[in-house]
Amino acid sequence: MSVTPHDVERVRRAIALATKGRFAVEPNPVVGCVLERDGRIVGESWHADYGGPHAEARAIETAGEAARCATAYVSLEPCTGTAKKTPPCAEALHAAGVRRVVYAAADPSPEMSGRGAARLGDLGLEIEGPVLEAEGAAILAAFRRAVRARRPWVVCKWAMSWDGRIAPGPGRGAMLSGPRAARFVHDLRGRCEAVAVGVGTVLADDPLLTCRLEGGPPDARPQPLRIVFDSRLRLPVESRLLRDGGGPVLVVTARGDRARREAVEATGAEVWEHAGDDGRVDLAAALERLRAERGVRRLLVEGGARLNGSLLRDGLVDQVSAIVAPRILGGSGAPGAAEGTGFRDLESAPRLTDVAWRPLGEDFLLQGYVSG
Ligand SMILES: NC(=O)c1ccc[n+]([C@@H]2O[C@H](COP(=O)([O-])OP(=O)(O)OC[C@H]3O[C@@H](n4cnc5c(N)ncnc54)[C@H](OP(=O)(O)O)[C@@H]3O)[C@@H](O)[C@H]2O)c1
Repeated sequence: MSVTPHDVERVRRAIALATKGRFAVEPNPVVGCVLERDGRIVGESWHADYGGPHAEARAIETAGEAARCATAYVSLEPCTGTAKKTPPCAEALHAAGVRRVVYAAADPSPEMSGRGAARLGDLGLEIEGPVLEAEGAAILAAFRRAVRARRPWVVCKWAMSWDGRIAPGPGRGAMLSGPRAARFVHDLRGRCEAVAVGVGTVLADDPLLTCRLEGGPPDARPQPLRIVFDSRLRLPVESRLLRDGGGPVLVVTARGDRARREAVEATGAEVWEHAGDDGRVDLAAALERLRAERGVRRLLVEGGARLNGSLLRDGLVDQVSAIVAPRILGGSGAPGAAEGTGFRDLESAPRLTDVAWRPLGEDFLLQGYVSG
């Protein structure tokens, strides 16, 4: 059977569904899936959360028995293999009784490309694709970037006033956003392998950085690794991070003295040393090590101003999730979201792409990918 205009229309629908996973699934790809039987859509879904079920599995679940003998329209070539947290989709489609698979774009990762399609063929399914390569590939820019990177996908999250300030004054903490935004942040923490702050934030806010949803992190995931970037080991041993439990703590320093290091290690925290040229932590080296040694693929950075500024300057941020609270803080001393050296001109300053916004109770969530 060849590809019909109707097939192409359904694949387009799968592509549109895929984009609903933006900002939630990276470094995984966004994927959408539509299941059709006898000309009727019997199930459809998308990959909604990093580490969560894939689009095909969710669509099969919505279709139930109706998936038998259906055609699956997918925005991306289904995955195969066993080295995954979630079961491979080629095998799941086969097990559900799907007869035919039409996909938009091939998997862009060199080690996976073509494998899913070949596996589906081996399992006896009829397979067509790629049928909308350009459109299917266009929604995968973030994934292609993540495949190339040797560090985690970095999400910078901050809460700011309408006038772009993240605190009322230097070193002063304040809860700017409301309870709905707080739930969003706890959920986000629970879906990342690690959460990081600069030591300035610990000194100002004394945060715990745990996911405190009722019942713990979503889908029984572990608490994230909590990381503090602290050039001179100023982190107080009485801080809640070191004192109150709640999961492992890693302190990344540039040149902390031995006694301070021993005091921090005595609390059970781990200390890494990565000195950069400016006497602060070499953030790029630390991130690569986090990925290589700790398998951190998705890192949430919760500020503050100077850490955000350094990460953005060094091109180490992939996504910004900014919560805008309906308040005005004002004052020339109130820090902005990204302090430090900043950018020389508009051309060198990062741009955000695929920007989306939605209300979070009384606040707004603005999200975008950082270009580059
Ligand atoms: N509204 C929000 O979402 C939010 C979130 C977090 C924090 N905040 C606010 O932000 C303020 C804290 O911001 P901050 O800028 O003072 O502190 P920060 O960004 O949390 O921490 C900055 C410190 O991190 C250390 N660091 C290590 N390596 C670094 C590197 N490569 N680049 C930059 N810093 C590095 C530095 O210590 P050394 O100086 O020893 O080198 C630096 O002083 C507080 O007022 C807090 O309440 C607001």
